[in-house]
Amino acid sequence: MHPTHPHLPEGMRTGDERMDSTHDGFMDLMQTLRDTPPTERLPAYDALVRHTEAHFAQEEQWMAELGLPPQNCHAGQHANVLETLHEVGKRARQGDLGLIERMLDALDEWFALHVVAMDSALADALRAHAAAQSEAARARSSVLSTLP
Ligand SMILES: [Fe+2]
Ligand SMILES: [Fe+2]
Repeated sequence: MHPTHPHLPEGMRTGDERMDSTHDGFMDLMQTLRDTPPTERLPAYDALVRHTEAHFAQEEQWMAELGLPPQNCHAGQHANVLETLHEVGKRARQGDLGLIERMLDALDEWFALHVVAMDSALADALRAHAAAQSEAARARSSVLSTLP
């Protein structure tokens, strides 16, 4: 456990503080949902869905800033998961609250793999991009300093 991200296991840290903080919040909301009695879970479930929508949208914004096409594999996983989350919410509202428990188990498993396979690569690409940008800025300012 990391002191600043208490809900995020060490092996699931990407090193990007913004991303790790969102992931920690996601794990926290999943735990809150587990700690809520099954018949009272809808508000906590909706909070998890809203958090996830913002979480995925932020990562997709970063992908766009890196010049990745919107229909990439990472964004595709997000879209599939959101679609399932929305469907489960709809059916839970119709009375099938047991589905939330199954969704939580599936989400737990999926998220651990997603962070390692997809989010870590995005964090690496964001770091490489930031390093290239600051290198370019340094080169520009050193060229400018040679001008009379
Ligand atoms: Fe993520
Ligand atoms: Fe992601």
